[in-house]
Amino acid sequence: MIDRVFLIVIDSLGIGALPDAKDYGDEGSDTLASVMTSKKASLENLKSLGLFNINGENGGIDFPRAAFARMAEKSNGKDTIIGHWEMCGVVSERDMPTYPDGFPKGIIEEFEKRCGRGTLCNKPYSGTKVIADYGKEHIETGKLIVYTSADSVFQIAAHEDIVPIEELYRYCEIAREILQGEHGVGRVIARPFEGEHPYTRTSRRHDYAILPPHETTLDLVKNAGLETVCIGKISDIFASQGVTKAIKTSGNTDGMTKALAVVKNDFKGFCFINLVDFDSVYGHRRDIDGYAAALTEFDKWLPEFMNSMRENDVLMITGDHGCDPGFKGTDHTREYTPLLVYGKQIMPLNLGVRESFADIGASVCEMLGIENTLYGNSFFKELRMTKERLCAHAKEAMKNSYSPYSNCKVGAALLAKSGKVYLGCNIENASFSPTICAERSAFAAAVSAGEREFLALAVCGGKNGVIDGAFYPCGVCRQVIREFCSDDFPIYVLNGSEIISLTLKDLLPHSFSNEVM
Ligand code: THU
Repeated sequence: MIDRVFLIVIDSLGIGALPDAKDYGDEGSDTLASVMTSKKASLENLKSLGLFNINGENGGIDFPRAAFARMAEKSNGKDTIIGHWEMCGVVSERDMPTYPDGFPKGIIEEFEKRCGRGTLCNKPYSGTKVIADYGKEHIETGKLIVYTSADSVFQIAAHEDIVPIEELYRYCEIAREILQGEHGVGRVIARPFEGEHPYTRTSRRHDYAILPPHETTLDLVKNAGLETVCIGKISDIFASQGVTKAIKTSGNTDGMTKALAVVKNDFKGFCFINLVDFDSVYGHRRDIDGYAAALTEFDKWLPEFMNSMRENDVLMITGDHGCDPGFKGTDHTREYTPLLVYGKQIMPLNLGVRESFADIGASVCEMLGIENTLYGNSFFKELRMTKERLCAHAKEAMKNSYSPYSNCKVGAALLAKSGKVYLGCNIENASFSPTICAERSAFAAAVSAGEREFLALAVCGGKNGVIDGAFYPCGVCRQVIREFCSDDFPIYVLNGSEIISLTLKDLLPHSFSNEVM
């Protein structure tokens, strides 16, 4: 089984508009396509994993190293919290509420009444500008500066000399209590500041996240006694629910450094990483070159992470929504996201289009051997080509055997590195010697299709198609296999219902190969 699953969210990496993008005013958005127009984009490692195989643009490759999928967001929304929650089995009916015209009168009145203070502003505003513009009035009147942004946030700014920090935090708790249900904003944020005009914000900012509406994948993993290591803002997004260890970061570079430290450490469970700068620094600011340079930095970092992974580790890379830096406005964009799944135990298959991000959480559970009680369909089984399944393919192949002279039906199933399985059967001839064995038929089919690298071979055979003994590959077939496969290439031979697991070296020791030529 899998011991550790790493899920890296490249915040806002969308790969094209969802079918309902027009409902969000986001028709035609494509974050990755915009990023790829920049000369600063150099994504060789992501490309080798299969990032560009998902859309087939910008250079899909023949043998990607990862399984890949195009992820649709089932929730109605394009917010960070909604996206991350969905990855962990929470599908949201509606997006987090935003307030482009300020908060409704009823909300503000209740807030003022319970705080015993008036409020100022109540509009979307820049955080530094709002204190410069309203700071003086706030100091003179003691009224709280309430403002929002394009995100689902209720922010309260106050001078630390006027409103002591503990008092500001209490007001935030009051706001959090009021802002539930229809007005359940993603975060209430304390924004303390100090000094003289134009004032400076202090480090005592504090976020009050909304609780997930029910259990998430993090809870399931934690309840199974495994670790949930959350790097970046993941712990805030889940309001610490189901988090066994929270590691805060100062941005992408710090996040990558901390992820490397975790992969090199011992633990068992789920490590969930968010790299936020793509969205907050480059996406919203519509900075294509900046986004491209940041993604290139990530790409260059990937090999060290992948080389630090162990035999039973899985890495998944995805996005939580789009934020197309080439699109109008400054908002997120309603897009598909990519998914790459990489690991020694993972077949690099095309997983197609998934109807929900929740398939990620469902797969995390199955990988870690935990029952998933949440929304989502695991794709893990598809990615695990077991010897049993390969042998079942060989049995199927046996049915096509052309063997009127010997009546021995032989089947072979050859698993190529691309994830495809090629079948072969024996093809006899009245002149006997031109007969082609099942193994060589399978290799001929695969090599003709362009495959050159192989992961495993299964063989079975029997008189009249009844498998009651082992049909080992003949000497000629062993030599043909050696042309493409190394000594440790796994070969499975069916003997009745038993699977005999061998390597090529067992069948052909001291072999002659092109390595000595
Ligand atoms: N056969 C195979 O298909 N593979 C082998 O490696 C051994 C032999 C077939 C060839 C022939 O059609 C039948 O088995 C009996 O020799």
